[in-house]
Amino acid sequence: MAQTRHPMTGNEMSYYAEGGTERHRYDVVVVGAGGAGLRAAIAAHEAGAETAIVCKSLLGKAHTVMAEGGIAAAMGNRWPEDNWQVHFRDTMRGGKMLNHWRMAQLHAQEAPERVLELEDWGALFDRTEDGLISQRDFGGHRYARLAHVGDRTGLEMIRTLQQRAVQLGIDVFMECTVTEVLKQDDRVAGAFGYWRETGRFVIIEAPAVVLATGGIGKSFKVTSNSWEYTGDGHALALRAGASLINMEFVQFHPTGMVWPPSVKGLLVTESVRGDGGILRNSEGKRFMFDYIPDYFRSETADSEEEADRWYEDKKNNRRPPELLPRDEVARAINSEIKAGRGSPHGGIYLDIASRRDADYIRKRLPSMYHQFKELADVDITAEPMEIGPTCHYVMGGVEVDPDTQQSAVPGLYAAGEVSGGMHGSNRLGGNSLSDLLVFGKRSGEAAAAYAASVPRPSVVEADVRAAQAGALAPFELAAAAGAAENPYTIQQDLQQAMNDLVGIIRTGVELEQSLVALERLKERAGSMAVEGHRQYNPGWHLALDLHNMLLVSECIARAALARQESRGGHTRDDFPGPDPEWGAKNLVLTLDASGDGVEIAEKPLPVMPDDLRELFED
Ligand code: FUM
Repeated sequence: MAQTRHPMTGNEMSYYAEGGTERHRYDVVVVGAGGAGLRAAIAAHEAGAETAIVCKSLLGKAHTVMAEGGIAAAMGNRWPEDNWQVHFRDTMRGGKMLNHWRMAQLHAQEAPERVLELEDWGALFDRTEDGLISQRDFGGHRYARLAHVGDRTGLEMIRTLQQRAVQLGIDVFMECTVTEVLKQDDRVAGAFGYWRETGRFVIIEAPAVVLATGGIGKSFKVTSNSWEYTGDGHALALRAGASLINMEFVQFHPTGMVWPPSVKGLLVTESVRGDGGILRNSEGKRFMFDYIPDYFRSETADSEEEADRWYEDKKNNRRPPELLPRDEVARAINSEIKAGRGSPHGGIYLDIASRRDADYIRKRLPSMYHQFKELADVDITAEPMEIGPTCHYVMGGVEVDPDTQQSAVPGLYAAGEVSGGMHGSNRLGGNSLSDLLVFGKRSGEAAAAYAASVPRPSVVEADVRAAQAGALAPFELAAAAGAAENPYTIQQDLQQAMNDLVGIIRTGVELEQSLVALERLKERAGSMAVEGHRQYNPGWHLALDLHNMLLVSECIARAALARQESRGGHTRDDFPGPDPEWGAKNLVLTLDASGDGVEIAEKPLPVMPDDLRELFED
C-alpha cells in the first residue's frame, strides 16, 4: 500500500498502514440509523437495491427516541374534522410560512399512511376508548393528532423499524463513522469512514448515499441531543458540493431539565403540556397569557377559564397559551427567567400535579415520572418540575428536491433532521417523527431508482488517500513539535460560544463576535493533537467530529447575522419583528473556495399554488 505524507506537516503518515482498509459495494448506503435512516433503508431494500446502513453508535440508540410525545398525523381518530389540509396549514403557520410548501403538503398527506404501516409492522400504539390509535394534543396543532405510545413514542418507532430492517436482512455497519462522501466527477461514488472500535478505514462504493444523520445540537452547551449530533451530514453534504438552507433556525425546546447539573438540557416532553400541564413563574403566576403574539391571538385563549374549557371542546374554544408553538413558549420562559422570576436553579415551573390525578400522570407520562424521580428526586404527581429551554432541533439542513429528497449532487440524498425546508423557521412538536417516516421512505425509493438508472461510478483513489490523510491528521500533529490543542477544550469553548452568542436571543454585535470566535476555534482546531493509537480512541473521534461542528456552527452564525428580522427559531433583539421581505426568501449556504468556510446567498421561496394558498385566507 502506498505511503502518504501529512498535508500540513509533511511527515510520513505512520498510522496509514495500520489495519488496512476494507472495501464494500452496495447500491444505496444510508448514513444514520434513526427513524429516517431506517425507513430509507427499508424503502431502498424493498425497491430492490442492495442496501447498507452505517451508524455511529449502536443500532437502536438513535436520537429519534427523544421525540417522546408522538407522531403527528391527521388520522382524525379523536377529531373527525381533522384532515391533511388542517395539518398542512398548522405546519406552515408554525414555520411562519417559510416551509417548502410541497414538503409540508406531502408530509401532511402521507403521514397517516406511514403511521398505519408502522402499526402493521408491530408498533403498539396507545388506543382510544373505541380501539383506534390514540392521538394527543401538542403545541400549534389545531386538533389532537399525535399518535403515541405513552411518552416513549420515538423508542417504539425505532424498535419497530429496526426489527423490520433486521428481518429484511439489511446490512448494518454499527459504530462506524462516515467522514467523507466520495465522488466521481460531479456525482456520488460512495462513502469513506472508520470503525470506531479498531480505527480501521472503510470504503463503501455505491452510486447513491442517503444522509440521515440528524442534527447539530452538540455544538450548544445546553441540549437535549445525544453525543452523535455533531452535524456530520450537514458538513458531509457541504463538502460534497450540496447546499444548506434555513440554518439560522435552531429550535430551543421550551422544557428541558435544569437540575441536577449532570442532566441539564435533558428533554421534558411537550406531552406534559399537551396532557394539561401549565407553566408558572416563581410568583405562582401562569405567565403565558402575557406572551400571546398577535399572529396566534385569534386562536389562543386569553383567560384560564377558556384555556381549561379547550381540553373538553376544541371546536369552540381557543388553545391554552402553553400550547403555542415552541419558539413562542421558549422565548416567554427565557423572558421570565431574565426578569428574575425564575426557579432556584434558573428555570421555571411546569406543573401537572395540580391539574391531573396521579394515576393519569403515571399512565400517560411514565418516562417523565421515572426520569424526575430517579434523576432529580422529584415526584411529578405531587410537585412541579423545574424546566428551562434546551437546544433540541435544527430546522436547517440540506437543500433537497421535495419529492425525492435529492440534493444538488446527483446520487446524494438527505432525509429527516439533516434535510432542510420542511419545517421553515420552526418545527411543530410531533412533526419530526412523521417527517422521518414520510421523507425517509421517499428518499430510499428515489435513491434506489437512481442507483438502478446510472452506470456504476468508480471511487477515485486520490480522494481515498486524501480522506485517509485527513482522518489521520490529528495523530500527525501530536507528533509535531508545539501542537498542543485538546479537542475536548475546543468543544467546550465552542459550546460556550454558541450558547452565549448564537442562542435563543441574538444581536448583530454578538453574532459578529461569534464569527470571530469561530475563526479562532478553527485555527486552534488546525493544531489539535490526539495521543495514543487508532483503537477505540474517543479523543480522535471528537477531533474529527469537531471539523463538522465548526463548519456547521459557522453556517448557523452567518445565516443568523444575515437575517435581519425575528422569525420562528431565530430571534434578533436588534430586529424584533418579522419582516415581510425576509418572509419571502431563504438563505442558502455553500462551501467557499478555501473549502474551510461558507458563502451565503439569498433565494426566493418557491411559489405556493393557489389552491393551497386559499387555506390561509381566513
Ligand atoms: O416533546 C417531545 O416529546 C418532543 C417531540 C418532538 O420533538 O417532536
